[in-house]
Amino acid sequence: PGISLWGGRFTGGPAQALAALSVSTHFDWRLARYDIAGSRAHARGLRRCGLLDDAQLAGMLGALDALEEEVISGAFAPTPADEDVHTALERGLIERAGADLGGRLRAGRSRNDQIATLIRMYLRDQARHLAGLVLDAVDALIDQAAAAGEAIMPGRTHLQHAQPVLVAHHLLAHAWPLMRDVERLEDWDTRAAVSPYGSGALAGSTLGLDPDAVAAELGFDSAVENSIDGTSARDVVAELSFILAMTAVDLSRLSEEIIIWSTKEFGFVTLDDAYSTGSSIMPQKKNPDVAELARGKAGRLIGDLTGLLATLKALPLAYARDLQEDKEPVFDAVDTLAVLLPAVTGMVATMRMNRERMAELAPQGFSLATDVAEWLVRSGVPFRDAHEISGACVRACEARGIELWELTDEDFAGIDPRLAPGVREVLSVEGSVAARSGHGGTAPVRVVEQLVRAIERSAQL
Ligand code: ARG
Repeated sequence: PGISLWGGRFTGGPAQALAALSVSTHFDWRLARYDIAGSRAHARGLRRCGLLDDAQLAGMLGALDALEEEVISGAFAPTPADEDVHTALERGLIERAGADLGGRLRAGRSRNDQIATLIRMYLRDQARHLAGLVLDAVDALIDQAAAAGEAIMPGRTHLQHAQPVLVAHHLLAHAWPLMRDVERLEDWDTRAAVSPYGSGALAGSTLGLDPDAVAAELGFDSAVENSIDGTSARDVVAELSFILAMTAVDLSRLSEEIIIWSTKEFGFVTLDDAYSTGSSIMPQKKNPDVAELARGKAGRLIGDLTGLLATLKALPLAYARDLQEDKEPVFDAVDTLAVLLPAVTGMVATMRMNRERMAELAPQGFSLATDVAEWLVRSGVPFRDAHEISGACVRACEARGIELWELTDEDFAGIDPRLAPGVREVLSVEGSVAARSGHGGTAPVRVVEQLVRAIERSAQL
């Protein structure tokens, strides 16, 4: 049996069934180095309030350094008797510093303020790492947009042909939400940068500790204003879980389009062999598994978020052991995105957009009907009438199995005398996109500006 963190008022050790339920080292061990960093800061705090002398502090820090080295090398690891990361590391400290010195570190702190602090430290590091991976995906989208130049594709609403758009415009429409996800991560960090250390079990400490000094040493901006809040709140974890789920959902929407685009029916995109999989039975198959896994894992991250919210709902203040359940879901979200993002980035960076196929389909499905209506509006026709007249053109074409530009001048005049031959100037996809030249529109001049702004923005993030 290991060293328990309590015992005085107990007559025996925990039941095997309790220990099996309670143990968390299989997932919280990843916090070990943060726990040791917290211990160093706490030891200095104990020195400042006179609870350790210089020699004791030096002995404590030396033992913590030795312990950390063995944690990194794997020489020190939790045993089955260690309940959690804190229990294991206190055992390690006592093994190295002796029971008298090692047993002094726990004064004034509780696993409740420790764990609340460690999870913030860990998640802040992970959020920074993930933000970099999201920006890699953004860069891949921006590079593809730049490479697409003025290529045109069918823009869709309801997945039906709507209006032609630049391929670059569409790809950048996936880059902007991902940049907002990175902005969210940065904004989240301002709330995560507040340290609960010093809150104790729930009410603070009697020992004269200085939470602000510990906060500063651990890289936080400040210490919590309320020790009950500090130990009980997990909204910081839930908020990050949302941002990670949102990021996964944004990747999933991109992936869904890539899945559709890579079908024979669309043929807009060809995935690189390195980012495609084959079939064990059908020799001809080339499947977009990266995109499908992105779509599937988005569901998993949504589950991670909702699971945590369900844990928090109706949980009274202050600490309750339910809060141990915050970790596995958010760790799962972090781990999942960390493997997903590089795969999606690689898939996007190496996919080939088939310009001819997109150009061929762009004008089909009467995608220029709005241009006809807006041409009429520019010649003074009320939009309600213009909409009707353009709709009549579509009806006439559908009846004859032809496209809008195949109508003759006589056909147009027969549908409505206001459809003068000049309408032909808007019956090309190039004319259509060029005309959408307001800020944020798909005109090539605007998309070039947008591309520059996207590059600038991603470089700032
Ligand atoms: N392992 C716990 C957690 O993850 C921290 C320990 C607090 N336990 C307690 N009985 N007060 O939240």
